[in-house]
Amino acid sequence: METLRIHELFEYRITDVKEGGMGRVLILERTSEASPFDFVHLRQLAAKTFKDTEFVIENRDLFERELNIWMELSVDNAVPLLAVVFIRGRLYALMPLYEHSLRDLLTSMRSLPLPMACSVLRSCIKCLEQAYHNLGVLHLDLKPENVLLRADRDEHVSDVADWGLAEIQESAARRFPSKTELGNSFFETIHGAGTLPYMSPERLIDNTKTPQADIYSLGLLFFEMLTGRLPFFSYEAKALSDEILTARYYDNAYRMLQHKQYDDQLIAFVLQAIHPILANRYASYAVFRKALDRLMHPTIFHLARKWFNSGG
Ligand SMILES: Nc1ncnc2c1ncn2[C@@H]1O[C@H](COP(=O)(O)OP(=O)(O)O)[C@@H](O)[C@H]1O
Ligand SMILES: [Mg+2]
Repeated sequence: METLRIHELFEYRITDVKEGGMGRVLILERTSEASPFDFVHLRQLAAKTFKDTEFVIENRDLFERELNIWMELSVDNAVPLLAVVFIRGRLYALMPLYEHSLRDLLTSMRSLPLPMACSVLRSCIKCLEQAYHNLGVLHLDLKPENVLLRADRDEHVSDVADWGLAEIQESAARRFPSKTELGNSFFETIHGAGTLPYMSPERLIDNTKTPQADIYSLGLLFFEMLTGRLPFFSYEAKALSDEILTARYYDNAYRMLQHKQYDDQLIAFVLQAIHPILANRYASYAVFRKALDRLMHPTIFHLARKWFNSGG
């Protein structure tokens, strides 16, 4: 049985391993009774480390950079970093265990009820709004794989994970190494097919990074929660880039939402978030959040609570 000994008193059994693009996440279950740490009450944990690929050196550097940002983040609706431990020459980031990612949920349910989709989006906006406000952090890799969900008492909690591609915007970048200090090339190679669909046109053109890039990704994520798919015809990289750059996805999104018979207000809300022209999207996270709140009529709040309390 594979175990991870975090402390001499304190051993975890590895019950599962999840692979992301750059990281490996171990799902851990405590086998020992006591521990000197304050997260001891957690019988289950998740531990992220870097993946042993041919990019191992770059992965290790990027992981340390991710940890630097993650450690500084103290915002609502971000997966909390409980501790960083160094075991047999390897860093592990310990965090609470979540039941599933938004991807898992979309795979099993296909689409989500509107109140739940609104609630997940609102949590993500809150996280990103605070991260940007406090630290100037952009996430830059928002997608269903990087939103994690768990039940907490009677509520469903959704938190943003994976700051592996996050960056501090120039004006706010005082305490962290810049991307150029760490080298550019690896960032480009990992924009694989998994991430490309959530990248805004201006990021594809010249990698312009603004909060509107994250707002765009969140808009697509919301669209996907509502319709069960993305507004693209193709998933082949070249054809997909064309659809993004020619704004064909935008017309398609409009048609798909109309087909689902969503009301005009909701359709306009989504389309503004994913507008091909950056300047036409929401001017800030706060404006985005307020537009969502106007959409979430009190009866929808009520339905959401009812839905959550019934266990989904
Ligand atoms: N705390 C957690 N609890 C449960 N599953 C997790 C947790 N953190 C990550 N995962 C799973 O592991 C996957 C990879 O983690 P992530 O941090 O996104 O790594 P990467 O940087 O490689 O994408 C996630 O998509 C999710 O499915
Ligand atoms: Mg990820």
